[in-house]
Amino acid sequence: MKFTTRPTAEPFKIKVVEPLKVTSRQDREKAIKEAGYNTFLLRSEDVFIDLLTDSGTNAMSDYQWAGMMLGDEAYAGSKNYYYLESNVQKFYGYKYLVPTHQGRGAEHMLSQSLIKKGQFVPGNMYFTTTRLHQELAGGTFVDVIIDEAHDAQVAHPFKGNVCLQKFEDLIKREGAANIAYITVGATVNMAGGQPVSMENIKAVYALANKHGIKVVLDATRAIENAYYIQQREQGYSNKSVAEILREFASYSDAATMSGKKDLLVNIGGFVAVNDWDLFEELRNMVVVYEGLHTYGGLAGRDMEAMARGMEEAVQDEYIAYRINQVASLGARMEHYGIPMVKPFGGHAIFLDAKKFYEHIPQTQYPAQALAAHLYIDSGVRAMERGMVSAGRNKETGEEFAPKLELVRLTIPRRVYTQSHLDLVAYSVAELYENRKKAKGLKMIYEPRYLRFFQARFESL
Ligand code: F0G
Repeated sequence: MKFTTRPTAEPFKIKVVEPLKVTSRQDREKAIKEAGYNTFLLRSEDVFIDLLTDSGTNAMSDYQWAGMMLGDEAYAGSKNYYYLESNVQKFYGYKYLVPTHQGRGAEHMLSQSLIKKGQFVPGNMYFTTTRLHQELAGGTFVDVIIDEAHDAQVAHPFKGNVCLQKFEDLIKREGAANIAYITVGATVNMAGGQPVSMENIKAVYALANKHGIKVVLDATRAIENAYYIQQREQGYSNKSVAEILREFASYSDAATMSGKKDLLVNIGGFVAVNDWDLFEELRNMVVVYEGLHTYGGLAGRDMEAMARGMEEAVQDEYIAYRINQVASLGARMEHYGIPMVKPFGGHAIFLDAKKFYEHIPQTQYPAQALAAHLYIDSGVRAMERGMVSAGRNKETGEEFAPKLELVRLTIPRRVYTQSHLDLVAYSVAELYENRKKAKGLKMIYEPRYLRFFQARFESL
C-alpha cells in the first residue's frame, strides 16, 4: 500500500505491555449470553479490544508513574494536593480546589450545594450521572443544546454549542431565580464528543451573568475541546491548546471534572470554583462524602498522577495525535459506508444503530444489539448510547425514545495501536455487510438507577 499523506506516528513508545487473551467465537457467544447481552457485564479478561469507555482506561507515562512514588500519604495537607491545586490554577484558572474520587463525586456535591428543590438546570445535552445528581437534588434538567446536535448526520463545526435562544426562553418562562445554574459540557459526550466554540461559551457566560446565573463547566474533556477550537475557530490557530483552555474556562464560575478522561489517569476528579462561599460549602460537604478536603477520596499518589497528567494532556503534539487517532478510525469505516455520527467526535466514533439496523425497531434496542454482535464477532467491547441509556421519564415511567440510537467505540488514551483499530474497522464492516440477518433484544431485568449499567437482555 502506498501512502497518499504523511502518516502521523504516536508521540511516545511502549515501555510495558499487557498481554491480551485471544478467544474463539464460541467463547464469546457464551460470554455475552452469560452477561445478559450487556457489555458492561462482561469480564474484562474476555475482551480483546476494550472500547467501552475512555474513562480511567488511559495509559500513564513514565513521568506519571514516577510521580506515584512521590505520593505523600498524609491524612491532611498532602504536598500532592498543593501541587494539584497549583496546576488547576495554572491550567484552568479557578481559585479553589476540592478533590473528589471521580467526576460524579464532584457532581453530587455541586448539585447538592447549588440546586434548590423545584429549580431548573439547563445544559447542552444531558450526561447520565450529571442529570441524575441534579434530579436527586430536586432539580429538573432542561436540554438547551442546538438542534443540530440531535441529528447524527448534519455537519456543524461546533455541534455541542448551547442554543442561546433556548436558554433565554427558559429564563423568560421560569424566571432567573428558578434556574440553579447552567452546565456547559465540553466536549458533549452524548452528542458524540462534539465541541463547543469559544464564541458560544463567551456568549453563554454573558447572558447568564446578565441574569445572575452561574455557569458550571463540565471540564471532563475540555482539553480535547480546546484542540477543536485551535483547529476550527477563527483567531485561534496560532494559540496553544493550553492558552485556549485557560480562556475557555475563564467564561465559567466553576467546574466539575472527571480526571479519568482528559487528565490521563485511572482514577480521580475534582470540583473547582471561584466563589469563596461555595468553596466553604463544598469543603464542608466533602468530609462527609469523600474524605478530607485535601484528598477527597484519593491517595496522595493519585493526586500527583493527575497533576502530572494535566501537564502532558495540554501538549499540542499529544492532543493532535489523540484526536487524529480517533478520526482515522472513522475515516477507515467511512470507506465501507458505515453510518456514523458526523463530524467525528473527540473521544469516540459513534455508530448510528438506527441506520445500521434499519429493520430493528428502537423498542428492540438496536444499539444494545449491535454492541453485543460486535463483541461476538471480534471481542471488541463497545457501549450502547441510545434507548437503554436514556432510561425512563421519572413522572410517567415511560421509556425515553431518544433521536440518537448509538453505539460508542470509545478510544482509551495512549493504549491501542493502529492495527488494533484496523481490526475494529474490519469487524464493524463485516457486521454491516451481514446486517439484514441481525435480530433485536428483549429486556428481562431493569435496575432502578442508570439502568444501562446492569440491565439484562435476551436475543429475540
Ligand atoms: N461528565 C462527563 C461528560 C462524562 O463523560 C462523565 C463520565 C462524567 C461526567 C462522570 O465522571 O465517571 O468520573 O464519575 N463518563 C464516562 C463515560 C463514564 O464512559 O463516558 P465519572
